[in-house]
Amino acid sequence: MPLDPVVEALDELNAQMREVDAVISRRLASEVALINQISGYIVHAGGKRMRPKLVLLFANALGHASPARFELAATVEFIHTATLLHDDVVDESQLRRGKQTANAMFGNAASVLVGDFLYSRAFQMMVSVERMRVLEVLADATNVIAEGEVLQLMNMHDPDATVESYLRVIRYKTAKLFEASARLGAVLADASPEVEEACAAYGRALGTAFQLIDDVLDYESDSQTLGKNIGDDLREGKPTLPLLIAMERSTPEQRALIRHAIEHGEEEKLAQIVEIVRSTGALEATREAARIEAQHAKDALNLLPASKWQKSLLEFAAQSVERSF
Ligand code: IPE
Ligand code: IPE
Ligand code: MG
Ligand code: MG
Repeated sequence: MPLDPVVEALDELNAQMREVDAVISRRLASEVALINQISGYIVHAGGKRMRPKLVLLFANALGHASPARFELAATVEFIHTATLLHDDVVDESQLRRGKQTANAMFGNAASVLVGDFLYSRAFQMMVSVERMRVLEVLADATNVIAEGEVLQLMNMHDPDATVESYLRVIRYKTAKLFEASARLGAVLADASPEVEEACAAYGRALGTAFQLIDDVLDYESDSQTLGKNIGDDLREGKPTLPLLIAMERSTPEQRALIRHAIEHGEEEKLAQIVEIVRSTGALEATREAARIEAQHAKDALNLLPASKWQKSLLEFAAQSVERSF
């Protein structure tokens, strides 16, 4: 009996990801022992490897099969990991991928500096592919991610942050790298501008959906499942969509409580606020927003040739919004 094409594609993708892991291990190497220790610590802790998978899925969907796809898949994972090292310092997070964060283990200074190492190693890797367009895509993406993190810093502790400004933050800090990853698959395959834009649109919408769900899970998951601490966003006074919707839907007293918590990042009120966020249906509303984005992602795939890879990308979008970690 022939295998389900999506299962077959998944097997192939997993085999290709082993090639990516080999590139990752090789490219992590440094003569500086502390770099190897810290970068190895976070990279080998796992992670879902969503962004490298996107590079491969789109390269596969468009019939591109050179080793450059493994190099670029590893490159986007390095960029992602660099942003995580920096993000955990900024967010003062203690748990990542089920382990103590690098900042908790090795300190802020070492985390920031090794993040810089991974960023610059990523640039060495992307140059090795010898394609100007690849450099352009990744230079733009890393720049926008940095803008997103700074925009978020400006929203911090601001209970009057708007949904528009929240959406801009997540498009910049998260969706941009998903967009770039998908786009790179198309660039490698020399796709037409229309197809490249469709791939980019998929990545952008999927990345937005992905961060919306991340912001839901910060309220409703548990640290065991998620591998990160719950309630980090509220503790930090981050006005994410669940809180913004809860404020819109709550009583004046509840709203005052949430505003106060955003302004002061009160941990003691966490349980009470989680309860308001739940009872106002704000988590479900945020999930719904994520589902709409995931649907946009799926719609963008209409421009791609029908194949097991296109089907896998549909599945990938569906899983990203129904995930629990
Ligand atoms: C975490 O990304 C940061 C966000 C953009 C939400 P992931 O959830 O992809 O992290 P790992 O790589 O799987 O740990
Ligand atoms: C995503 O935001 C961070 C980056 C894109 C760098 P979060 O701060 O929500 O990510 P987590 O929850 O720490 O993984
Ligand atoms: Mg964070
Ligand atoms: Mg988060």
